[in-house]
Amino acid sequence: MREKVTVPAIQARKCGPKIKMVTAYDAPSARIADRAGADMILVGDTLAHVVLGYDDTLSATMEVMIHHTAAVARAKPGALIVGDMPWLSYHVSVEEAVRNAGRFIREGRAECVKLEGGRKRLAVIEAVLAAEIPVMGHVGLTPQSIHAMGGYRVQGKRAEAARELVADACALADAGVFAIVLEGVPDVLAQIVTQEVPVPTIGIGAGPHCDGQVLVYHDVLGFYDGRVPKFVRQYAHLADVATEALQGFFADVQAGTFPSDAESYHMDEESARTLRTLMRNEE
Ligand code: KIV
Repeated sequence: MREKVTVPAIQARKCGPKIKMVTAYDAPSARIADRAGADMILVGDTLAHVVLGYDDTLSATMEVMIHHTAAVARAKPGALIVGDMPWLSYHVSVEEAVRNAGRFIREGRAECVKLEGGRKRLAVIEAVLAAEIPVMGHVGLTPQSIHAMGGYRVQGKRAEAARELVADACALADAGVFAIVLEGVPDVLAQIVTQEVPVPTIGIGAGPHCDGQVLVYHDVLGFYDGRVPKFVRQYAHLADVATEALQGFFADVQAGTFPSDAESYHMDEESARTLRTLMRNEE
């Protein structure tokens, strides 16, 4: 069994080695991520998109997130489990945010939570931290702000916006987040943020200078046929592997070669003879 990764252990990785994070949404994917050596498993609200088939992450609810976080936790990974707070679970009031963060810990068995946004989230972050729940920040392209941003657009491309983003990241670090996801920002900006904040930065579409990297499980493993964003590197094409495997199964069914004798259960000869006799007598 792997040694359990903790929040202080992640904090201590600011000076390396690089932190590896991947999303997972159920027990088998968590086991695979853990076996592969993930430091952190993010039960991301991307599950709305990649698992549940919605077009964005806004449809992820607390119930769905807790359900999937608990499934990941049942795999008992050595990796730190990060519960991703969905849209509207921390926007209505600070009290509701703390209660929802607590549900991730108590019901989902997450070990920390992540939430999106910069300085405007400070009150929520401080209150969740005061409840002894470690918080991971997330700035840059924050998918829960899709409508406010006018689409999934790289953030901080101009100097003034980039400076604001640095200020956001510094404010989150001052408030006490233990790590910050930098998503969809220019590499230079990610490099500056990484130099400026004392906590590890985890990049996604943020270039190579972050203290760690995260990708979505289904993107890395190629569960899609379609185009993936430019920042994704696909290490496998499991959609093709799975399609071929199922085609093999269906072909064997059609040919009558599945199941084989070894794949079938058997009765002893005498019971089989008696059964046939009973059936004949009933005719
Ligand atoms: O929900 C998610 O998977 C995320 C990552 C893309 C960082 O927030």
